[in-house]
Amino acid sequence: MITTDINKAKEILLKNELIAIPTETVYGLAGNAYNETAIKKIFELKKRPFYNPLIIHLKSASCISDVALEIPESALILATTFWPGPLTLVLKKQPHISDLVTAGKETVAIRVPNHPVALALLDQLDFPLAAPSANPFGSISPTNAEHVYNYFGEELNVILDGGECEKGLESTIIGFENNQPVLYRHGSISLEEIENIVGKLGITTNSDTSPNAPGMLSRHYAPKTDTYLTNNISELLKCFEGKKIGLLLFKNTVQNKSIIHQEILSKSGNFNEAAKNLYAAMHRLDQNKLDVIIAERLPDEGLGKTINDKLERATKKE
Ligand code: TXA
Ligand code: MG
Repeated sequence: MITTDINKAKEILLKNELIAIPTETVYGLAGNAYNETAIKKIFELKKRPFYNPLIIHLKSASCISDVALEIPESALILATTFWPGPLTLVLKKQPHISDLVTAGKETVAIRVPNHPVALALLDQLDFPLAAPSANPFGSISPTNAEHVYNYFGEELNVILDGGECEKGLESTIIGFENNQPVLYRHGSISLEEIENIVGKLGITTNSDTSPNAPGMLSRHYAPKTDTYLTNNISELLKCFEGKKIGLLLFKNTVQNKSIIHQEILSKSGNFNEAAKNLYAAMHRLDQNKLDVIIAERLPDEGLGKTINDKLERATKKE
């Protein structure tokens, strides 16, 4: 059920069962990161393949050495700059971190979420929380408690309600190769913001080619409705004449009699606002019994890059 009762959430976690937690990025499906029974339940409920590792959520940056070893200087600088916040660091793991969490890798993904409810909960626990996004594997991430409820219903005894996620896009993931920072996943913090702190990054965001980022699957975040991405909405509209069409647009509406529903991400063309609205707009479009959804590509800069990356994965054909 959807609740704001942190004590109840704690009680369930102590039984090695799962809850959903709000974060500033998306909602997470959380369990005790130090308990394999809980971790197995995360993979089962999410129907996530075991080769795709989880992110560990810490209460504070000062706990980083509880889970990671040999932390590069640039990782400490990034942690100091962005935590609590939507940055995940992939670091060498402490030996006690379960292979289930890391999918057998020598590294572990870690972040400190910037949400008062998540932090208040973590503060009451003597273990960190492993939490992937609270959606079935491959589908659109949840940005409010209701999205989570629509996916899992009463299978979750506690969905902690923390309102709409402020950022609306997953954390940016940075790994380290030869001590140099490398981007593994575009996210809520733009590439430019990270490069302002640590200089030019290497980029490895496609798992189909990279063994370092097994979760960056090329098809992800996908609506159930057939979805396309384009630079030119009016051209693509012609291909679907007579169909029930939904549009996902950056700032301007489009007139066409086949359009049943349209979502504008930000009337003023603001990337932060567009990011915050993206997944909720995709959820609404997907509930409209449309034949097709056409999404518009955003300018490829700042968070526009992250949004385009999510849209590309959402529209990738198998
Ligand atoms: O914003 C977020 O990061 C949200 C909230 C809940 O914190 N979580 C999230 O988790 O997006 P998830 O599981 O949906 O995505 C985690 C990503 C996956 O693509 C996974 O492959 C990658 O992190 N990952 C985890 N551990 C890794 C590792 N050791 N090396 C490389 N990639 C890793
Ligand atoms: Mg996810």
